[in-house]
Amino acid sequence: MHRVGVIGAGYVGLTTAACLAHLGHTVHCTDRVPERVAALRSGEIPIREPRLTELVREGLDSGRLAFGTDNAEAARSEFVFLCVPTLAGDDGSPDMAFLDAAVAEVGPHLGAGSIVVNKSTAPIGASRRIAGLLGRDDVSVVVNPEFLREGSAVGDFLHPDRIVVGSDDDGAVLRVSGIFLKIASPIIVTSPESAETIKYAANAFLATKVSFINAIAELCEATGADIGQVVHGVGADRRIGTEFLQPGPGWGGSCLPKDSLGLLRMSGDRGVDLDLLRSAVAVNERQYERVAAKAVRAAGGSVAGKRVALLGCTFKAGTGDVRESPSLRIARRLADDGARVRAYDPTVADPIEGVEICADPYLAAEDAVVLVVGTEWEEFRHLDLDKLGQVMAHRAIVDARNLLDPAKARAAGFAYEGIGFAGG
Ligand code: NAD
Ligand code: UGA
Repeated sequence: MHRVGVIGAGYVGLTTAACLAHLGHTVHCTDRVPERVAALRSGEIPIREPRLTELVREGLDSGRLAFGTDNAEAARSEFVFLCVPTLAGDDGSPDMAFLDAAVAEVGPHLGAGSIVVNKSTAPIGASRRIAGLLGRDDVSVVVNPEFLREGSAVGDFLHPDRIVVGSDDDGAVLRVSGIFLKIASPIIVTSPESAETIKYAANAFLATKVSFINAIAELCEATGADIGQVVHGVGADRRIGTEFLQPGPGWGGSCLPKDSLGLLRMSGDRGVDLDLLRSAVAVNERQYERVAAKAVRAAGGSVAGKRVALLGCTFKAGTGDVRESPSLRIARRLADDGARVRAYDPTVADPIEGVEICADPYLAAEDAVVLVVGTEWEEFRHLDLDKLGQVMAHRAIVDARNLLDPAKARAAGFAYEGIGFAGG
């Protein structure tokens, strides 16, 4: 078992730290936000992830997991995992500021023979840049992209489809692979550049797959076909599969949008036009507009001065994360048209610009001319439609997740529209 430092205690860092401690390693995880560290030390985790609290407490109790703010201390480890944000810069290109800062903070304190493992999604070539910044012959840099999803981070980390280890240093590859010895998943060894490309290509493919089905959903609306039946029939082909083929309000979250733009920018800089991905992004932007337009139509042609109810603020169900949420993109679009948007989300209580947060779905629906389902929270399936209709000014639902039963909604007197089928 090894001594591991983890820099950054967000979705990726905290999951990495807790899971590596669970696997038996001794982990020191840092974050630059002292309040976050204080909460973590008492076993309170700042994000919503199944099993994560349990694993953090297990690590604290066993003494294998510790939290701090001092990156120098975390750097005095055999392996130092970098799990800091790589936000999109103004032009879409990945911003290396957090990563560069983290490297500068750990660099001088790394012992000879230690390995810096970059888990942050960073531009192709980043690991060589990190090695250059470190300027150390006695320290290796390895790329180990992370593929976990929010809402299933622990399960994804402990049971990944694959573990990618990118490095030209065979010894470092062996040592990093050893960390994951207890995880029964294939390890794919690549060059650093390939590992960095794999991460961007995977997210770009997932984004493209969803845009593809959203485009086919638009076609279904024009032809009278039913997207549910189409997905069933297309996805039954094992080469295609039904995963990531659910139509919706467009893809969002902290990574798919950022990484798609990042890849477009990086490829453009190298004279390669990824026009397929560019189209996927354009289709996604159009999808937000299409859902907003459905809401405007349902409201009688204008939402100006009217109330709109929004169910769900997070970018998907199972997370408390509202970053780049399609639901909020649609809400802002409607607010720009003069709507007063009142929202309910089971995980959101803090204010969100342009949206009034309500304590339950029925309060959000009061006097609304249309209700938009933006996130596929299970509890929305079980709404009391009569009660909803009684508080609304007009019985209309735009279900951007195809979550509700159209027949039941229509039987309750609602004009109901989903995505990708007749009346959809
Ligand atoms: P996050 O915003 O949830 O967490 C990052 C944490 O790093 C924050 O708590 C921040 O305070 C801390 N931090 C920043 N600079 C620091 C420093 N110098 N020292 C110590 N702490 C520092 O971010 P995230 O979602 O975990 O993403 C991290 C990286 O992983 C990104 O590159 C992202 O693209 C990638 N990624 C994210 C996911 C995901 O599902 N969120 C999945 C795979 C990959
Ligand atoms: C995504 C990838 O799935 C992870 O593999 C990756 O590690 C991560 O990004 C990352 O790099 O951060 P995540 O952001 O948690 O994970 O979200 P997804 O589950 O991929 O969903 C992304 C968006 O696509 C959501 O808005 C979701 O609602 C939408 N989506 C997904 C659909 O509209 N239809 C689908 O069939 C699937």
